[in-house]
Amino acid sequence: MAAMSTASPPAVLVTGGAGYIGAHTAKALHEQGFLPVVFDDLSSGSRGSVRWGPLIEGDLRDRGALTEALATHRVSAVIHFAGLIEVGRSTAKPDLFWEVNVGGTINLLTAMREQGVGRLVFSSSAAVYGQGGRGPLEAIVETADKAPASPYGDTKLAAERMISAQCRAYGLTAVALRYFNAAGADPSGLIGEAHEPETHLIPLAIAAALGDGKPLTIFGQDFDTPDGTCLRDYVHVTDLAAAHLAALTVELPAGAFEAVNVGSGEGRSVSQVVEAVGRAVGAAVPHGVGPRRAGDPPSLVADPRRGRELLGWTPRHSSLDEIVADALRWERSPAYGAGRRDPANRRKSSAPA
Ligand SMILES: NC(=O)c1ccc[n+]([C@@H]2O[C@H](COP(=O)([O-])OP(=O)(O)OC[C@H]3O[C@@H](n4cnc5c(N)ncnc54)[C@H](O)[C@@H]3O)[C@@H](O)[C@H]2O)c1
Repeated sequence: MAAMSTASPPAVLVTGGAGYIGAHTAKALHEQGFLPVVFDDLSSGSRGSVRWGPLIEGDLRDRGALTEALATHRVSAVIHFAGLIEVGRSTAKPDLFWEVNVGGTINLLTAMREQGVGRLVFSSSAAVYGQGGRGPLEAIVETADKAPASPYGDTKLAAERMISAQCRAYGLTAVALRYFNAAGADPSGLIGEAHEPETHLIPLAIAAALGDGKPLTIFGQDFDTPDGTCLRDYVHVTDLAAAHLAALTVELPAGAFEAVNVGSGEGRSVSQVVEAVGRAVGAAVPHGVGPRRAGDPPSLVADPRRGRELLGWTPRHSSLDEIVADALRWERSPAYGAGRRDPANRRKSSAPA
C-alpha cells in the first residue's frame, strides 16, 4: 500500500503509538502521508508523545475497543507495538505477559479479520533467538535457532507463530520486525525514550553522566568478547521507524508472512557505549561492575541482509555517536518531561523550562 494525495490520508492503526518506538513511527507515517491512529492504554506510554493523529485510549485485551477503532477510522493497515516489554518483570509475571502480548495480539487479529484489514507489521524482538545454537560471536540470521531466554521472548515468538498461522489460514499479509536494541531519539527533541523504569543502557548511562541517575552497573566484564563486556546491536529509532514504513508498503502476496531482523549489523560493547556517552556529555559515566545477568548472551548482533533484500532498508543514522548525540539532546529537551508518564519521576533537565 502507498499513501496517495487524497483528501483523507489512509489511516494506519498504531497500537502502542504513545510509547517510544510507536511515537517515532507515527511521526514517520505522518511525514509519508498516512494518518497514524494511536491505540494505547497509556500504561507506559504518554499522551504528550501523541502528536500526529488521534489517540484512542484502550486496552488490547478489550477486543470491542479494537474493532471500534478500526471501524471508526476506516483503518487500512495496522502496526502493532503495544505490549509489555520488561524482560525482568516477565519472569515475575509470565501470565500477564502472555495475556497482553499473546492474548492481546489474538484480539487484534480477530478484530482485523472482522473489519477486513489485511495488512500487519508486528514488533518482534531479537529476544526470540536467545543464545540458540550459534557460535558466541556469530551474527544472527532470521533462520537461526529460536531459544528465548525469558517469558518476554517466549511471548514474542508465540505471537509471531500465531500471526504466521493466521496468514496461511486467512490470507493476512504480515511482516514481523525483530528489533535489536532500539536507541536514540528524533533529532527534533520532541519525542524520545522515556521508559519507567528505564532498563536500557544508553539512557541510564546518560543519566549517570549527567548526575541525574544512579551510577551505572556493567553486568559482567568477563565475557569472551574483545573487551570482556557484552556486544549489542544498536539501531537508531528513526531508522527503525523507516523500517516500519518499508514493511508496510513492500509488495507482498496475500497470505505472506516475513520475519526480518532490524539492526545495524555492528556489535558495540557496553564499554564502547559508556565511552561514547562520556565523550558526548563531556563527563565520565560513573559506573561499577556487577555479576553477569542470567541468560545474557555475550553477543546479540543482527545479520541485516534480509532487511536490505526484502525491504530495501538500510540504517542511515545508527552510528553510536549519532545515536548518543540524539539521545542526549532529548534528555536535555523541554519536551522530555512531557514525554514521561509520571512527572514525579521526571529527571532534572538541563534545558530551560
Ligand atoms: N525498545 C526496544 O529496544 C525493543 C526491542 C525489541 C522489541 N521491542 C518491542 O517494540 C514494542 C515497542 O517498544 P517500546 O520500547 O516503544 O515500548 P514502550 O513501553 O515505550 O511502548 C509500548 C506501548 O504499549 C502500550 N501498551 C502496553 N500494554 C498495552 C495494552 N494492554 N493495551 C494498549 N496499549 C498497551 C504502552 O502504554 C506503551 O505506550 C514492544 O512490543 C516491544 O516489545 C522493543
